[in-house]
Amino acid sequence: MARTPAVATKLPEVGTTIFTVMSALAVEKNAVNLGQGFPDFDCDPKLLEAASRAMAAGHNQYPPMPGIPALRDAIAAKIETLYGRSYDPQAEITITAGATQAIITAILAVVRPGDEVIVLEPCYDSYVPNIALAGGSVVRVPLTPGTFRPDFDKIAAALTPRTRAIIVNTPHNPSATVWTEAEMRRLDALLAPTEVLVISDEVYEHMVYGGARHESASRFPGLAARSFIVSSFGKTYHVTGWKVGYVAAPAVLSTEFRKVHQFNVFTVNTPMQHGLAAFMADASHHLALGAFYQRKRDLFRAGLAPTRFKLLPSQGSYFQCVDYSAISDLREEDFCRWLTAEVGVAAIPVSAFYQGGYEQRYARFCFAKKDETLTLALERLAKL
Ligand SMILES: Cc1ncc(COP(=O)(O)O)c(C=O)c1O
Repeated sequence: MARTPAVATKLPEVGTTIFTVMSALAVEKNAVNLGQGFPDFDCDPKLLEAASRAMAAGHNQYPPMPGIPALRDAIAAKIETLYGRSYDPQAEITITAGATQAIITAILAVVRPGDEVIVLEPCYDSYVPNIALAGGSVVRVPLTPGTFRPDFDKIAAALTPRTRAIIVNTPHNPSATVWTEAEMRRLDALLAPTEVLVISDEVYEHMVYGGARHESASRFPGLAARSFIVSSFGKTYHVTGWKVGYVAAPAVLSTEFRKVHQFNVFTVNTPMQHGLAAFMADASHHLALGAFYQRKRDLFRAGLAPTRFKLLPSQGSYFQCVDYSAISDLREEDFCRWLTAEVGVAAIPVSAFYQGGYEQRYARFCFAKKDETLTLALERLAKL
């Protein structure tokens, strides 16, 4: 009889993610889905036309392994204009299948069994399994409870001779905090005497509010020299399903990155790269993105203000976290299930972003939604 051999799982702690669970529950209960982080509106039609034109023009075969030159040139020009750092598009910029593939590729390129990698919790859910797949040890350092600011004494205490890298994410998912220049400088100073690399997850780089600026690691020479800077066109251009992103890193790091990249994806979708390169020539979309999302954030926050939710600051990203302790004593996942099933609005428990499931009575909403979607959600949440 045919028999599938037994497989010992490499990732025993990984099951169905909370995003999948809450999205399925939202469909079943006909809830407004403010859980998973993606827009419910379409991208600029000009971007669709640019990608379609590329397909019609025959750009449908493998592109160069690191990405098409026009897109790498456009990214290098953008980074130089915004953050003042010059990356060589030939040697230092690589197009990836979204930020997710960029992050795992960077980790596989530099982390060996026995190496330690610091993650600041709460954090995006792919980091920990990625480190495990590379055979590294995850060193979890909490962001300060309540404010989610980085605690440099704790980070310093976590550094050991085995520390290979630290993963930093600003603007931050899920907390919506944005690192300040002073915080980036402290990180720079802390790492200066070490051999520690930085994986700087900057996928929300254009979503920063209230006049603050995005402190890319590329702005700081000491950090830039040790960083893989990761970004995502999915977030910036409302095309999360295209899965195109990039990594900017010094040539020695990019060389190692590309050794892994060429054997885990080899290349990334050709016509989308052409479409993005053409669309990026006009900077107005990414320059206006902060104002675009700040208006949605303000609409959402104003609608929640009369409720018993306590609003945490949302300085960047497209997330708004709330403290629901005045409404319910339920644990975070139970509260989010209740909110989805009984109130008709799906949210994500912040505890899902901690390995140990730390409980604070916080839920995360995504406001990257049409105004009518946000208004419908707010109507339902108003009774709380
Ligand atoms: C912090 C963070 N990093 C990376 C990603 C993944 O980006 P991509 O869709 O480009 O793989 C996300 C998506 O939600 C994210 O929130």
